[in-house]
Amino acid sequence: MPAFPSTRMRRVRQADWSRRLAREHALSSDDLIWALVISDSGKAREAVPSMPGVDRLSPAEAAKAAVQARDLGIPALALFPHIDPAKKDAGGSECLNAAGLVPETVRAIKAAAPEVGVIVDVALDPFTDHGHDGLLEDGVILNDETLDLLVKQALLLVDAGADVIAPSEMMDGRIGAIRDALEDSGHTDTLLLSYAAKYASAFYGPYRDAIGTATALQGDKRTYQMDYAGSVEEALREVELDLEEGADMVMVKPGMPYLDIVAAVRAEFGVPTFAFQVSGEYAMIAAAAQNGWLDRDRAIIESLTAFKRAGASGVITYFAPEAAKLLAQ
Ligand code: PBG
Repeated sequence: MPAFPSTRMRRVRQADWSRRLAREHALSSDDLIWALVISDSGKAREAVPSMPGVDRLSPAEAAKAAVQARDLGIPALALFPHIDPAKKDAGGSECLNAAGLVPETVRAIKAAAPEVGVIVDVALDPFTDHGHDGLLEDGVILNDETLDLLVKQALLLVDAGADVIAPSEMMDGRIGAIRDALEDSGHTDTLLLSYAAKYASAFYGPYRDAIGTATALQGDKRTYQMDYAGSVEEALREVELDLEEGADMVMVKPGMPYLDIVAAVRAEFGVPTFAFQVSGEYAMIAAAAQNGWLDRDRAIIESLTAFKRAGASGVITYFAPEAAKLLAQ
């Protein structure tokens, strides 16, 4: 490339029309999955203090949100439950309650807006009194015993009408176990969105507050979630295994600090690849905006567009309705 002054990179940037012409990446409402926090408290809405602008919703409010999602062109919702602490136990038994919060909310959403995709997490942490994603014995997570429970949880959620099962607990072998059970029970069209490369991260802090596991969590999740200082190849192996076991789509989580992983996964496999703009990323933008330190609207759209540039097919985000409204302006 000839050097300055025959090359002046700013020529293309000089006007709105030339910037628009040269632009490569666009965010649309089709790229958004709305992360929705739901609660069995009986109240319609409760604010989440560490996530200003996010409320925990009752099933009826979640159904209204689904209608809103449909009207805004948001393809899908992902549900995260806040369970009454009195219902929690060491085995997470509430996750198998067919009349529990998540199945009830799935049914309410499907009745109100059947054309909106419903994604549900499969993991035990909202339901266990120790806050871990798997069964715990003497401080050790029991991988294989947990799988049986995850399979039952997944089948129960599919029966409630969930379109996408999203295992988020990082147990080995869970995608294969759930896929086999789905095939055996005739649910051949259920989608599996695997949290394939999920890191043990400080950025989940506000989420654990939102779903009420922050104070309960004993220890940390580093024996199952990935080490953020690990290799990109480790992430690729995780994704490859999940695809071999039957995942249709994969996710990288957290999002913005892990765009290198998103780009590598996308380049290697070319499968639908999602990123999760997690609670801590939400909180950082929301808190800085509240202080007048950055422009909330611009930070939302810039951060979400960066995921697209990195190669993400879409983004799970608590900003989804706000972003869709901004994009429609
Ligand atoms: C765990 C789970 C986590 C999130 C969703 N499912 C985090 C964790 O505690 O490991 C995080 C979501 C967020 O931070 O927004 N099953």
